[in-house]
Amino acid sequence: MINLENVTLGYNGKPVLNNVNLHMEQGEFVGIIGLSGAGKSTLLMSLIGSIDILAGRYRVGEYQLGNISKKQLKELRSRIGFIFQGYNLVDRLSVLHNIMSGMLGRMPLPRALVKCYDRDSLARGYEYMQTVDLVDVAHQRCDALSGGQRQRVAIARALAQEPDILLADEPVAALDPRSATRVMDILNTINSRYGVTIIANLHHLSFAREYCSRIIGIAEGGIVFDGSPAELAQAHLDRIYHVTNSARPEENVAEVERSLPIGGASPCPRFNKNILIPVKEAAGI
Ligand SMILES: Nc1ncnc2c1ncn2[C@@H]1O[C@H](COP(=O)(O)OP(=O)(O)OP(=O)(O)O)[C@@H](O)[C@H]1O
Ligand SMILES: [Mg+2]
Repeated sequence: MINLENVTLGYNGKPVLNNVNLHMEQGEFVGIIGLSGAGKSTLLMSLIGSIDILAGRYRVGEYQLGNISKKQLKELRSRIGFIFQGYNLVDRLSVLHNIMSGMLGRMPLPRALVKCYDRDSLARGYEYMQTVDLVDVAHQRCDALSGGQRQRVAIARALAQEPDILLADEPVAALDPRSATRVMDILNTINSRYGVTIIANLHHLSFAREYCSRIIGIAEGGIVFDGSPAELAQAHLDRIYHVTNSARPEENVAEVERSLPIGGASPCPRFNKNILIPVKEAAGI
């Protein structure tokens, strides 16, 4: 369903990712890992046609990106849910209203304008609210929710769009370990229950290993690893996180730490002594 052949992506004519070859099937759960600035968000945004394609052939479903009309782009985007780190909710509206708003793009305009949902749509909205476990707070305003709850509203709203693909840009980076696990569990349920393809940028390597069926590692302006969690070896991690035996710049060390599982052991033994953050402390308990 997603096919990239020798694709180069970038901004203002300047490449960020070069010669990308990638094929994904419906129903995969893919984690993208890499240092800050590697190009993870660029790859994700390119799937909704928001990044310049400087070379190559790029297909998502039946759409050929780079040569797509505005109408087709709108259609493509209506089939892809996007979860942002900043949630992008309407704070003054209730949980249920925010979730239901995910359906507006597929409704006839007159009904969408007055937000008139039929019985079936409301039943589906309720089902998605159950999937993310927010029925108890259905009528609460979103500005009264915790970060984890807000992220779950954003996921249910994306689900209400009935997407083929769900893109998540660091969906758990701002959450405490317990809320983060809950969000990852929900993404996993959505993947298995609805067959939605999930592609998530993840700074927590442990989550990528645990939840994803496939991991893509980005470094050096391209894909340097593409395989199963079991195939991801130390040598790949060293390349993805720019770990070398020579002296490393401070920011690289920080980036490696940032990518590590909170409270877990480093994939790189050299860093272990620095990154053991007690779960309670990290969660602010
Ligand atoms: N709008 C833009 N215009 C020009 N360059 C950009 C733009 N957005 C990103 N870049 C550049 O593209 C490169 C990749 O950025 P990108 O945001 O994709 O990285 P990332 O892997 O998602 O990083 P992070 O983990 O910090 O989110 C960086 O060098 C960045 O400076
Ligand atoms: Mg990013």
